[in-house]
Amino acid sequence: PKPTKTKISQLAAHRSKRARVSGWVHRLRQQKDITFITLRDGTGYLQAVLSGRVNQTYHALTLTLESTVELVGNVQVVPEGKTAPGGHELIVDYWQLIGAAPGAEDAFTNRLNEKTNPSIQADLRHLVIRGETASAVLRLRAALLAAFRQTYAKHSTIEVTPPCLVQTMVEGGATLFKLDYYGQPAFLTQSSQLYLETCLPSLGDVYCVQESFRAENSHTRRHLSEYTHLEAELGFINFDDLMAHIEAMICESVDILLADPNSAALIKQLNPKFQAPSRPFLRLSYVDAIAWLNEHGIKRPEEDKDGNPIKDKSGKEIMVEHAVGDDIAEAAERQMTDIIGKPVFLYGFPAELKAFYMKRMPQKEGSDVLFTESCDLLMPNVGEIVGGSMRIADYDEMIAAYKREGMDPSAYYWYTDQRKYGTCEHGGYGLGVERLLAWLADRFTVRECSLYPRWPERATP
Ligand code: 4AD
Ligand code: MG
Repeated sequence: PKPTKTKISQLAAHRSKRARVSGWVHRLRQQKDITFITLRDGTGYLQAVLSGRVNQTYHALTLTLESTVELVGNVQVVPEGKTAPGGHELIVDYWQLIGAAPGAEDAFTNRLNEKTNPSIQADLRHLVIRGETASAVLRLRAALLAAFRQTYAKHSTIEVTPPCLVQTMVEGGATLFKLDYYGQPAFLTQSSQLYLETCLPSLGDVYCVQESFRAENSHTRRHLSEYTHLEAELGFINFDDLMAHIEAMICESVDILLADPNSAALIKQLNPKFQAPSRPFLRLSYVDAIAWLNEHGIKRPEEDKDGNPIKDKSGKEIMVEHAVGDDIAEAAERQMTDIIGKPVFLYGFPAELKAFYMKRMPQKEGSDVLFTESCDLLMPNVGEIVGGSMRIADYDEMIAAYKREGMDPSAYYWYTDQRKYGTCEHGGYGLGVERLLAWLADRFTVRECSLYPRWPERATP
């Protein structure tokens, strides 16, 4: 009788017994009368040995990479001095070809690797994800989301699923994807923040894991047109509580990953030098960050009134010192985080640079710049991974904010009502899952951290 089917990750329980596994031929080696297969089933890798009569069949001789097979045999602990994934191998006595793949002659199967032209890799993302590195990143991504969910549950924070189809903006009209919604204008959501805020009186502290969409014509290592946005909103807190919470969620989730042998092994595989960040994270005010940039000679391109860089006669951008009120651009931010070399909270950005809903700090005497209770968390190699703030809690102040931004308050009636029917001091944040993963798994770009990444000229596969 055939033994029952087993996943590769469960085979340790079947040592010295017969087992049946199915999967893809990940590696293949013919050695005289023996065929060695590394079988992949998503849960792990298994070394299988086909010898003697089982190896003499036509299919065994013409077996190709990426074909699917079913293998039946004895699970044997590998002899001392030999290594195999899991410490055992399958000595096959019966096997069956399920679906043949084109094999070595095929341009994809054998030659697709990390050095392949990035645009071909992107076209073949559906095959790339079969690779050891890409699948490890996806596996770690799943573990990361599970760890966050566990951490939120521990902190009595409830998961909700806000809509993706919306008729309001959160982070400015410039990056909205517009669409026709049964003849009415609508957008793909940029952030679920406003919906999360409305949940506070219903569910208490809430979070969501939802896709956000940004029509930014950015071709950087850290921008996607669609990304997974982990957002949370907390009631009856102050700005310090908010930063402490962000830090706790990240550190506790990382601790969960490191404590689990499977996810710890993935981190080790992808980012061998990774160490859990030490707490508390460094906190640097925006004003101090501007001074820091100037002390370190990190300049910004001078811009004309439309925000375009001004070039000198030779076509080079003219670089100038940062001043309070300036945006800290991606390049400067990256240099800063790379020098500091550990997580850092930048906080207290000028209101001019930030979104309409952010709570303002009391204006400093003698200063004409208004600052907000806002923070960005920056990570080495990636830069900003979290953006958060305290929100305007006062009704009249909210109405004034719409006016200042030229927004039509009527579309936001449900958001404004939050301030009418029992307001509270509250705040929250959004974390870019692909960016956090790029930091954790030491990936060069967030494109490697998304299943099927989207950027301006790509929405396929
Ligand atoms: O800083 P952002 O725009 O903040 C918000 O959307 C707030 N409404 C969130 C909130 O308070 N609930 O975005 C938050 C995070 C960024 O720090 C970044 O990690 C990620 O979302 N992000 C992107 N990730 C990939 N590609 C893009 N184009 C991204 N834009 C933002
Ligand atoms: Mg931001």
